[in-house]
Amino acid sequence: MKLNEATALVTGANRGLGFALATDLVRRGAKVYATARRPELVDIPGAEVLRLDITDPDSVEAAAAAARDVDVLINNAAFTGGGNLVTGEMDSIRAVMDSNYYGTLAMIRAFAPTLARNGGGAILNVLSGAAWVTVDGNTAYAAAKSAEWGLTNGVRLELADRGTQVTAMVPSLIATRTLLDFAEEHDLPLPEEDLHDPADLARTALDAFEAGEEEILDAMAKRAKATLAGTGAEQ
Ligand SMILES: NC(=O)c1ccc[n+]([C@@H]2O[C@H](COP(=O)([O-])OP(=O)(O)OC[C@H]3O[C@@H](n4cnc5c(N)ncnc54)[C@H](OP(=O)(O)O)[C@@H]3O)[C@@H](O)[C@H]2O)c1
Repeated sequence: MKLNEATALVTGANRGLGFALATDLVRRGAKVYATARRPELVDIPGAEVLRLDITDPDSVEAAAAAARDVDVLINNAAFTGGGNLVTGEMDSIRAVMDSNYYGTLAMIRAFAPTLARNGGGAILNVLSGAAWVTVDGNTAYAAAKSAEWGLTNGVRLELADRGTQVTAMVPSLIATRTLLDFAEEHDLPLPEEDLHDPADLARTALDAFEAGEEEILDAMAKRAKATLAGTGAEQ
């Protein structure tokens, strides 16, 4: 897949990593639908702006009807709060699952026929190292990202025969306002060597996505995933 010839839709493009991904796609020459719940907040010259709330079925359906030329779907939007599973509010726990899991799934179900019609195309799901290492204060988010990882693997299997590439982007620490505020509130250390600038990360991740990689992990995510297979600290 060549991103300079692609038509890409990015969710949550008004800020953070979504803004960086959409901006980098425009720089590469792609046609870009930069979507947001509040489209008036999207400021990306060269992008076409669409209103989209991934947890609202009517909104998802309207976006799929409006963007029938898409061949690259980037599922970035997410509520990244949620608190802890045992002591947190159930409404927040449901909200974090709603955007990360059900919202991403709704987008994939709505756009899979479009991707197939346009030659197969590709999906990039933005996961998190939190899928593999949970953080006290936000265990609900970690559980939702674990579910989204399972979703990504399942969808890859199901869409393989349509020729749709399904890639998991698994960053760990991105210097967006949301992370910086969470780190300050929870006294979470942010080691400089593991903290990514959103624009730099978007560029390197899109290079790997374009090269056809199935999983794009940063160093911290690689360490986290290694512990799952029993190949972490003990070796
Ligand atoms: N920052 C990190 O350290 C980090 C690390 C690993 C993975 N990630 C992942 O990277 C992605 C982006 O993170 P970020 O730090 O850039 O987040 P962010 O700055 O908090 O931005 C989240 C984006 O998602 C949008 N959004 C939330 N719920 C939505 C919904 N229902 N429909 C449409 N848009 C919705 C937000 O829109 P509003 O402005 O309207 O709220 C915003 O544009 C997320 O998937 C996150 O899990 C982040």
